[in-house]
Amino acid sequence: MCGIIGYCGPREASEVLLAGLKRLEYRGYDSSGISVGFRDNLQVYKKKGKIQALLDVVPESLKGNWGIGHTRWATHGGVNDTNAHPHCDCTGKIAICHNGIIENYVGLKDRLTDEGHRFLTETDSEVIAHLVESFYEGDLEAAVKSTVTLLKGTYGILTMHTDHPDEIIGARNGSPMVLGIGDGEMLIASDVSAMIAHTKQVVYVEDGEVVRMDSGSYAVTDMRNRSVDKKVDSISWELEEMEKGDYPHFMLKEIHEQIDSVPRAIGGRIDEDQATAVLGGLNMSEMELLGVKRIVIIAAGTSYYAGCVVAYLLESLARIPAVTELASELRYRNPIVEEGTLYFAMSQSGETLDTLMAIRELQRKGGRVLGICNVVGSTIARESDGGVYIHSGPEIAVASTKAFTSQLTAMYLFILKMARMRHMAWPEGKRFISGLLGIRKHIGRILEGENSIRELAVKYHKFGNFLFLGRGINYPVAMEGALKLKEIAYIHAEGYSAAEIKHGPIALINDQTPSLFIVPDDHLRDKVISNMKEIKARKGLVIALCVEGDEYAAEIADDVLYVPNCDEEFSPFLMVVPLQLFAYYCALELGCDVDQPRNLAKSVTVE
Ligand code: M6R
Repeated sequence: MCGIIGYCGPREASEVLLAGLKRLEYRGYDSSGISVGFRDNLQVYKKKGKIQALLDVVPESLKGNWGIGHTRWATHGGVNDTNAHPHCDCTGKIAICHNGIIENYVGLKDRLTDEGHRFLTETDSEVIAHLVESFYEGDLEAAVKSTVTLLKGTYGILTMHTDHPDEIIGARNGSPMVLGIGDGEMLIASDVSAMIAHTKQVVYVEDGEVVRMDSGSYAVTDMRNRSVDKKVDSISWELEEMEKGDYPHFMLKEIHEQIDSVPRAIGGRIDEDQATAVLGGLNMSEMELLGVKRIVIIAAGTSYYAGCVVAYLLESLARIPAVTELASELRYRNPIVEEGTLYFAMSQSGETLDTLMAIRELQRKGGRVLGICNVVGSTIARESDGGVYIHSGPEIAVASTKAFTSQLTAMYLFILKMARMRHMAWPEGKRFISGLLGIRKHIGRILEGENSIRELAVKYHKFGNFLFLGRGINYPVAMEGALKLKEIAYIHAEGYSAAEIKHGPIALINDQTPSLFIVPDDHLRDKVISNMKEIKARKGLVIALCVEGDEYAAEIADDVLYVPNCDEEFSPFLMVVPLQLFAYYCALELGCDVDQPRNLAKSVTVE
C-alpha cells in the first residue's frame, strides 16, 4: 500500500526521499512523487509507474533540505501523474502525502468546492491539503489538528508549508507511522525500511497522535494538545538484510533463507530438560494458560493459511478446540467473545488493517489477543496483549514465504507448551522437539533439489488453471500453494481439500487443468492416492508432491516432486517449500515481476 517519507536535515532532501521511496517500493505502488521545499517554494514532482520514472524527471541539482515523498497504491482515482501524491492546496504553499482512505471525502470536497477551493485530482486525499489551507492561520500544526478532526477513515499524513521551512507535521490514525531520530536530521515514514540507512533510533507514532518535527527536534502531542512522552526504540534489522545480495529476486532469497529463519524462530525458546517451550512474551501465567478452553486465530492471506495449519495441530496435539478466521470477516461479524477463549493475531507485517481492526474489536469486547508478528514494533505487535516475534528478518518480496514457516515454528512451540501442560508426556515432547529441530536439514535437502522444481515449472507454466489438492494438515498448504501461483505468476489456481473435488471441482478436470497433489506419508495418504486415481481416470494431469520412496504415488502421477519423509505434523514445513519454488519459477518463465506483482501490496493497510 502507499508509503510515505518525510525528511528535515542538512542533506539534499530529494536524495533522501528518493532513496527512501526505493526502499518502500516493496510495499506495492503504482505511482510516486516528492515535494521539496526551497526558499519560499515547493518543488513538486509526481509520476505514474516505477520510481525510475520519477527519478527521470527530478533534476539531479534539486535544492532543498526538507520535503515529503509518497508511493501511491491507487484507491480513489485512476493511476496517473495527477492523482499521484503529494497534493497541494490552492495557493501551492501547502503539500501533503496521505496513506489510507478518507471515507467522507465526497462531502468534504463538495463543501470546500462551494467555498471556492479548486480540486485538481480525483483522489480522496486532496481534501486534506484544502482543509489545512482553510484552517491555516499561521500555525501549521494547529491547522493539521483541526483538519484531522473532520476526517473519517484511516490516515498517515505528512504536511509541509512554505511559511514553515524545515518543519513537517505528521498525523496518524490507522496507518503506520514511525519517526527516525538521526544525527542533526529527522525522518518520518510509514515503515523503518525507508530510514534504516540513516538511523536506527525510532519512535512509533500511535493513532490520535500528531508529530511536529524539524531537523533538530520533534514533539508528539495528542488531539488535546497534551504532550506525549515517547519511548525511543532501536531497530534490530541490518541494512544488508534488506538487500538482494547475489539473488536475482527477494522472493528466491527469502525462500532460501528458511534454512536459517526456522531455527531462528526456535532460538532460545526450548527447554530440553523439561521437553517444553519457553515463550516469555505471552504475558500469561501457567494457570491462565491452563484455563484456555478455546483458541481463535485471526489473520489474512498467507498468515491465514499458516493459522489453519496451526489450528489443526492445536486440536490434534494439544487437544484444545481451535479455529482460524479471516480477520476481515470476523471484524464485521459481531463475534462472541467468551471467557476462556484466547485469540492469536498472525501477521508478518504487523500492519494489516483488517487484522488490526479485528484485534481492536476483540479487545473492545474483553478478548485477550496475542500477536505473532515478524516486524518488531509494528502496530499489531504493540497493540497485542502479548505474543511471540517470529524473527524471520525483513521479508521484502510481496509474496510471503519465510514468514509462513516461521509463523508455523513459533506456533508449534506454543502448541508444544500447551500440550506438555496437559497430557503430552515427556518422551513425546522430546520427539516433537527433535522433529522441529530437524526441519532445517530437510529444507536444505529440498533446496538442493531446486532444479527439478524449476524443470517442472518450465513444463507446466503455460497451463492457465491448476488445482492444488491436499488433506488434513496439508489442506491449508494446498491453498497456500495456489495463492502463491496466483499472486506472482497470475495463473488461476484453486486450493482444495482432495476429498472435496468430487463435490464439484472435478468437473473442471481435463487435459488442460493439472492437479498438484500433496501426498505426505500420513494417515490420509491412501485416501489422497484414491483421489489421484479419480483424476487420472478422467484424463487429468497429475503432479504428485510426495515423500522420497513413495514409488506408488510416483507411478500414478505424470510428474513427481519429492521431499524428505518426516513425522506427519511437520510435513507442512516441507511441502510448502517446493510450492513456493514452483510458483517462483513459473513466474520467472512467464516474465512476471516476481517481487512486485501487479496490483498487490506487501502491507495491506487499507480495507
Ligand atoms: O503482513 P500479513 O501477514 O498480515 O499479510 C497478510 C496478507 O496480506 C499476506 O499474507 C498476503 O496474502 C501475501 N501477499 C501472500 O503472499
